[in-house]
Amino acid sequence: MTSLFNLHGKDIISVLDFDKELIEEIFSVAYIMEKYAKSIGPSLLKGKIMASLFFEPSTRTRLSFEAAMYRLGGNVIGFTSAEASSVAKGETLSDTIKTVENYCDCIVLRHPAEGAAKLAAEISNVPVINAGSGAQEHPTQALLDIYTIKRELGKVDGLEIGIVGDLKYGRTVHSLVYALSLFDVNLSFVSPPSLRLRDEIEEDLRKRGVKFKYYEDIEKITPNLDVIYVVRIQKERFPDPAEYLRVKGSYKITSSIISKAKPKCIILHPLPRVDEISLDVDSHPQAKYFIQTFYGLCIRMALLSMILADEEDLKQLFCNSG
Ligand code: NCD
Repeated sequence: MTSLFNLHGKDIISVLDFDKELIEEIFSVAYIMEKYAKSIGPSLLKGKIMASLFFEPSTRTRLSFEAAMYRLGGNVIGFTSAEASSVAKGETLSDTIKTVENYCDCIVLRHPAEGAAKLAAEISNVPVINAGSGAQEHPTQALLDIYTIKRELGKVDGLEIGIVGDLKYGRTVHSLVYALSLFDVNLSFVSPPSLRLRDEIEEDLRKRGVKFKYYEDIEKITPNLDVIYVVRIQKERFPDPAEYLRVKGSYKITSSIISKAKPKCIILHPLPRVDEISLDVDSHPQAKYFIQTFYGLCIRMALLSMILADEEDLKQLFCNSG
């Protein structure tokens, strides 16, 4: 139980800061939170304020963090774009953080610059949670992705996991592969050649002894997979629009592909979807990307309470649920 408090007052910047034990601990708290995620939960965060500072668009990440706070009795302040903040007048991120930390107990930050969350955490006196730092990382998404696998398939170790799409610019992919490197899984990376993993991430995975292979065609390996994780082409991150046009629409998960999958194979996607999963896939029992958004709420309820809640209250909740 000691590690239940390992996150108290801490930042969440990179998945590389986690070990497997802490991830399992977060999953145990998220599991308890499932029963409170659909109505008012325990008042673990009463009187606490979360600032959500979103300098890039978001639906699920922002709304699930905010809902998590409200479900646990807390409050939320924030803005949803740079234009709605003093950044539009030329304020720096550093000045914004030095101001906002006076108004809240934690900051959830999404920013287009890689390293933004790390910088904010260095400046801030309140915990900072990275809700997406450019194309670099999205650690809470990786936690909810793996939690979904665990809840839907009962385990993570031993699985064959295919990751399909924009491996180069997809920050959810980067956090996910680092988090999965803590588990015993086989990874199949499926993408057009120009959207393969960045060299430095590939190198890190090799150093960590992760088993992975590259493919270009999802159909060939579909029958082997337990999980197919799809990510959209990250149009906004391409420095050259011509490069985007060359790969646009280059992969799509269809009902015909699903028909070749194992009956228990699950299809995940961090969302938003553009055209990489056809709409008729939604009605297949293997499509789990909407329940994945629910698990995201539970994970964020777990993280916020482990970071902010009074230790005695959290311990009590844990014991009462045992
Ligand atoms: C992702 C993101 O913002 O990186 N969305 C999310 O947080 N669920 C994926 C994406 O935008 O493609």
